[in-house]
Order: sequence, then structure tokens, then C-alpha cells
Amino acid sequence: MNILILGGGGREHSLAWAVMQNPKCDKLIVAPGNAGIAQIAECADLDIMDGGAVARFCEENAVEFVIVGPEAPLAAGVADRLREAGVLVFGPSAAAARLEASKSFTKEICDAAGAPTAGYARFTEVEPAKAYIRAQGAPIVVKADGLAAGKGVIVAMDVDAALEAVDDMLGGAFGSAGAEVVIEEFMEGEEASLFVLCDGSDILSVGTAQDHKRIGEGDTGPNTGGMGAYSPAPVLSPEVEARAMDLIVRPTIAEMAKRGMPFQGVLYVGLMIKDGQPRLVEYNVRFGDPECQVLMMRLGAQAMDLMHAAAEGRLGEMQVNWADDHAMTVVMAAQGYPGAYRKGTEIGGLDDLPEDSSHIVFHAGTKAEGGAVLASGGRVLNVTARGETLSEAHRRAYEMADRVDWQDGYFRRDIGWRAL
Ligand code: AMP
Ligand code: GLY
Repeated sequence: MNILILGGGGREHSLAWAVMQNPKCDKLIVAPGNAGIAQIAECADLDIMDGGAVARFCEENAVEFVIVGPEAPLAAGVADRLREAGVLVFGPSAAAARLEASKSFTKEICDAAGAPTAGYARFTEVEPAKAYIRAQGAPIVVKADGLAAGKGVIVAMDVDAALEAVDDMLGGAFGSAGAEVVIEEFMEGEEASLFVLCDGSDILSVGTAQDHKRIGEGDTGPNTGGMGAYSPAPVLSPEVEARAMDLIVRPTIAEMAKRGMPFQGVLYVGLMIKDGQPRLVEYNVRFGDPECQVLMMRLGAQAMDLMHAAAEGRLGEMQVNWADDHAMTVVMAAQGYPGAYRKGTEIGGLDDLPEDSSHIVFHAGTKAEGGAVLASGGRVLNVTARGETLSEAHRRAYEMADRVDWQDGYFRRDIGWRAL
């Protein structure tokens, strides 16, 4: 089978790595890819937001299966265009991608499905939103309705911060994504994520993970795309996971099917867990980054068979062959990230690192230039390891991170502290 993966981050490197282990893959192309992906697959320069262009590329290159990494092309309808062109694709339609692209849509689906989530109200006008915040008090959470690159959520610890967030969002700081705001009850508890493949009707869990969003050790400082992750998440015990599947995921998938917008792809279920009871924080319609890296490390080659079965509507026949293992990824970022950072600094030592089923460095923002690997983004490398225990995965990941020769690199030393 000829396969195309859309995207070029650490998530897509880990997807490419898993696909390449599978003997059913004859040829793999990744668009746009990065320096690490280029070592294992062909990279193509293609506008992944243009569904017509992607469909033509598939025809010209005899691509039979497309895996979509990020949410933006999904929300833009790229999967719809591919299906119209008769190409098999892993990823939801634009209609189903609204589970990530619109927070108020997700709330409406949760209401209809009876899925436990934070109490909320929706506003398009400043004054009623502010009156609601004053009446509810703090802490309280203000969210821009649409896609805002992970920056559209303000967890306000006091009323003034919430009022300011309303002014910013409805004042246009987030463009059309902030034309409506959702104001939510603040939920206490421990956060963890559950990843569920869906084929429109059947569902299959492909694992749990926890990430560290803050830049600084002890989970302090500004939010980032994620500074590290590990799988499984101890807080999502089999009992809690089963509860989340029964109360949240299954009713959501049934409601989407009932509305004529069946969800096919991976559902990223962000949960808040308190006293063993899960409530939904958010859905995403793609794998997490860096959570995907630890899931792929654990699943290996079978990940491709599972995604292929989801795309073909055969998930009911499938099961995951779990090993009794743990995985951890440590994100190496450019100094200064998530603020201003330098690009183009050289990274050495990568060729001397072990690369096997327990050790791999996935690339995120890198590019190859004249035989050297250069940093080209904020989050640059995902140093990933597997072990029989989380401590073993942790030790292996940090041994590798310490051997990377990158003066400008920064990483947290405490990934996994809660679980360890
Ligand atoms: P979201 O983009 O919806 O995942 O929100 C980003 C982060 O804000 C989440 O990962 C949580 O840490 C936090 N958050 C969002 N909604 C709530 C809520 N209702 N209560 C507490 N924390 C929340
Ligand atoms: N690591 C969080 C995300 O992918 O949304």
C-alpha cells in the first residue's frame, strides 16, 4: 500500500515510524515532513490545507491511504475532498471535526448525549457575558469558541481576569474564533487523556496519556504545546477508562452518527478526573502532540492496521495487542520558547543515540541543511523511550536527552513527576 501522512511535527514522525514498521506499507510519503521524517520516508512539498491539491497528489502518486495528522486540514474539509475523490482517509469530515473546531458545538453534543462536563453558558455580547461571570464568581473558565492554536482558553482565578478575557475575545483578539465565547464552571481534579479510534459506529481505545503543558519544572510558567508526556496515565485506571467510554465517548459517537455526521478517525478525549469520576474537558479530532509519540512507541506496527481498519469501517474486528509497558517522551525546545526563540542552531550527537523499539528521537521542528540538523521551530525534538516500568522509560529518555549536543536546547527534568 502507498501511504501519505499529512503534517510535519513530532506527532507525524511517530506516525511515520509506526507505519514504516508495518510490512503492508510499500511506500510512505509525508507532506511536508521534517529532517527526521526525511530519514525514513519521502517528503513532499504540498499545501496540506488544499484538499483538491492533496487529492490530485494522491492520484499522481498512486496513494491508497491518507493519514491526517493536524486538525487544521480536517476542519478545512481535506478529508471530505479525499473521500469524494475515492481515496481512503483516516480523519473526520469537516462536520465531525467541529468537535474540536467549535467549543459550543461540543457542549451541545454533550448535552444531547448526557455526557458529564462542566456547566456552561454561551455569549456573543460583552455585557451579558460579564454579568454571568459576576454572578458565578471565580475561579471560572473563558473559552473562545473556535480554533485558536491552543491559546483560546483562559482559566481565570479571579473575576477581573475573566472579565478581561471576555473583552479580549469578543473584542476580536482571536478573530472569528472569538466571535462567541463559552464560559465554563472551573473543574477541579487531575487531567488525563484517552485516545479512541472510531469508524463511525465502533470504537476502540488505543491508550491513555498525560502531558505537561507548562514550560517550567513543577508545572509552572506559561502554557506550551506540551513539554513531555507518558503513557499509560495511572489516574485513568481500567475502571475510570471504562466509565469514560460508557458515559462520554460511546454516547458522543452515537449522537454524531444520529445527526448524520459519523466520526471517523481518532478522538482525543481530554478528561478531568476527581474521586474516580471522569468529566469531559475537551475533544480534539486528532492525536495529541506529544501524546501520539508515546502511544506509537507502545503500539508499533499495529497502529497502522488499526487506523486502516477505522478508515474502512472494520474496527469491530480489531483489538489492541498490549504489551505490559510504559513510554515517556521528553520535549527539547529552543531556549526562549514559548516566547521568542532562535532558529537555525545546530544539533549534534543524534547519530550516536540508540534507535530501537525502546529508544527513539522523534523530530518536531527540524530541517536538514548540508548534512547538519538545524532547529527550525519552538519544540524541536521528542526524546522517547519505552520500558517495563515508567521509571525505566524515564531513565532511558533522560540518558538520551543528556547525550544530545545542542547548546540552545532546553528541556524539563521532571516529566512524569506526578506518576513517579
Ligand atoms: P482546552 O483547550 O479546552 O483543553 O483547555 C486548555 C486547558 O485549560 C485544559 O487542558 C485544562 O487544563 C484547562 N481547562 C479547560 N477547561 C477547564 C475547566 N472547565 N475547568 C478547569 N480547567 C479547565
Ligand atoms: N498536547 C496537547 C495537544 O496536542 O493538544
